[in-house]
Amino acid sequence: MNYQTIKKDVHTLETEFEEAINNARDLKTLDSLRTHYLGRKGKITLLFKVIGELLPEERGKAGKLLNDLKKKIETAISQQKKNIPEAKKSESFFDSTLPGDKWPVGRYHPITSVLREIKSCFKGMGFSIADGPEVEKEYYNFEALNIPKGHPAREMQDTLYIDNETVLRTHTSPVQVRVMESQSPPVRIIAPGRCYRRDTPDSTHSPVFHQVEGLCVDKGVTFADLKGVIVSFAKRMFGSDMKIRFRPSFFPFTEPSAEYDFSCLICRGKGCRVCKGTGWVEISGAGMVNPEVFKYVGYDSEKYTGYAFGMGVERLAMLLYEVDDIRLFYENDVRFLDQF
Ligand code: FA5
Repeated sequence: MNYQTIKKDVHTLETEFEEAINNARDLKTLDSLRTHYLGRKGKITLLFKVIGELLPEERGKAGKLLNDLKKKIETAISQQKKNIPEAKKSESFFDSTLPGDKWPVGRYHPITSVLREIKSCFKGMGFSIADGPEVEKEYYNFEALNIPKGHPAREMQDTLYIDNETVLRTHTSPVQVRVMESQSPPVRIIAPGRCYRRDTPDSTHSPVFHQVEGLCVDKGVTFADLKGVIVSFAKRMFGSDMKIRFRPSFFPFTEPSAEYDFSCLICRGKGCRVCKGTGWVEISGAGMVNPEVFKYVGYDSEKYTGYAFGMGVERLAMLLYEVDDIRLFYENDVRFLDQF
């Protein structure tokens, strides 16, 4: 075998193939044409095998001839396939018995779920939902809550200022004032929302967090009503094993004031970093609305009394889902979020 013989064979095969492809009218014929020329024992495949027997200077030229013909045959076969109705049908064939692709399903962020649950608990106790701005006037965030300029209580909450008289609200308590300004007693609302403080992040503090404010004003409302509502809420949300403790505290907008803690469900009282070894997690500030605040909104403190509270939502979520670091809620790690 030499180059000239191969050249002659290639020419013969090409002529023979051109005639055959023009007469191929179905897929079966096209398939057997492919096998006849390009299959494992196909005519062209066999010619490729004898290249090694040629003189070294002839091998390149022969290889190119064979490759060109191989490409031509492949192109012609796939081109001809497009003209065959049977092939067109199989290309667009839809197998309705195959299982469908699974679509990824979104879910609520754990804080959203907890907020929904809190709202549902309080709605069940006759509270309605109120709302207020996150970019708030200093007047509502401090002044009308009996925290005048220069009052040390302003330092208790490290504030982010937008300008001289506008802040990112440090708590949801300004909604109390806005609600009382716009309606007369009786009032029974909760106001869930985001708050901002220049707090250094740690396992229980985030610079952005959520609170749920509660406010109830009517004739004859007492501290016992506040305790009753909080205990009912805690048991409803966490079950009857949840323990609650009230401690005396100070807020300029309540008198008397308290803070309440829920028992730590993460360590069940053994002591962990969330409860700082105490077995209790601080959830909220609370108290009886200070008559000074009533003055700002024009309520008669001789006639009405009220209680208020401001709970930390992330703290509740930590207890509910046994999450030992608040920062996990804000890292947007899908491996974490996928678990809720
Ligand atoms: C207040 O913000 C008061 N406005 C609460 C209040 C309302 C008192 C009505 C009386 C009447 P305090 O700063 O303690 O209080 O915050 C209340 C709760 O918010 C805390 O107990 C805690 O659960 C949560 N909290 C406060 N700062 C953060 C923070 N940086 N990260 C996460 N949660 C926080």
